[in-house]
Amino acid sequence: MALLSVSGVTKHFGGNVVLDGIDMELDPGRLYNLIGSNGSGKTTLINVISGMLRPDDGKIVFDGIDVTAKGLYDTFDTGLVRTWQTPQPFVTLSTLENFVISSGGNPGESFLKAPLKSTWKKDEQRITDKALEIMEIINLIKRKDIPSQNLSGGQQKLLELGRAMMSGAKMILMDEPIAGVNPTLAHEIFERIVKICKKDNITFLIIEHRLDIALQYMDHVFALNRGKIIAEGEADDVINHPEVIESYLGG
Ligand SMILES: Nc1ncnc2c1ncn2[C@@H]1O[C@H](COP(=O)(O)OP(=O)(O)O)[C@@H](O)[C@H]1O
Ligand SMILES: [Mg+2]
Repeated sequence: MALLSVSGVTKHFGGNVVLDGIDMELDPGRLYNLIGSNGSGKTTLINVISGMLRPDDGKIVFDGIDVTAKGLYDTFDTGLVRTWQTPQPFVTLSTLENFVISSGGNPGESFLKAPLKSTWKKDEQRITDKALEIMEIINLIKRKDIPSQNLSGGQQKLLELGRAMMSGAKMILMDEPIAGVNPTLAHEIFERIVKICKKDNITFLIIEHRLDIALQYMDHVFALNRGKIIAEGEADDVINHPEVIESYLGG
């Protein structure tokens, strides 16, 4: 069964039809790329899937749950998590603290309630251990005690990724995670994403137009043009598809 199933999703702003009957099936533990020229509807599609916007028509099912009418927070609670183009960490907190407060579910709450010191201690230790493990994976361990505002742009993207993992995400949606990041760090970010995807079985849907860097890491590519999926499949086939070539030249 697909992890995420999008069927007939439509969205318009006034008379402007931005998503025009989108159908997509995404399986667990795979890395998906969403491409398309400027204004083709990529960000809107991610906003609709993540519950930030409600579709006008169609259905979105995630992990067996109908999330079509759910808002951002309820969708988040199902394990479908969107990261932000501009990272939004709590700037004065350390990297480690940013991770700890991103921890999802009840343990995070008991952290705040803390009625019993012993329970609190156990949760704290477990959450900290998990944070350290994730920081190791995304290579932020050496920076764990510095305020997140002192991280570089690329490291802040990694922090966003780590926070999504802390929340227990099953699927992570990212809008241009390597925008403005130098090629070396951009490759490193994708290498980490692949590792997380395969090792932790987390599915990624990533908007990325730096195809020279991104495509080699992708399992499957969706090409969007004027609100429609015009091609999907392996990267080579999709970027050589006549309609895809034309949509880029036309844009
Ligand atoms: N909140 C909004 N209100 C009105 N129009 C919007 C809104 N968001 C996006 N659009 C329009 O939808 C179209 C697709 O935008 P977007 O999804 O951002 O494209 P992409 O991310 O592929 O560049 C554009 O024409 C844009 O102007
Ligand atoms: Mg966009």
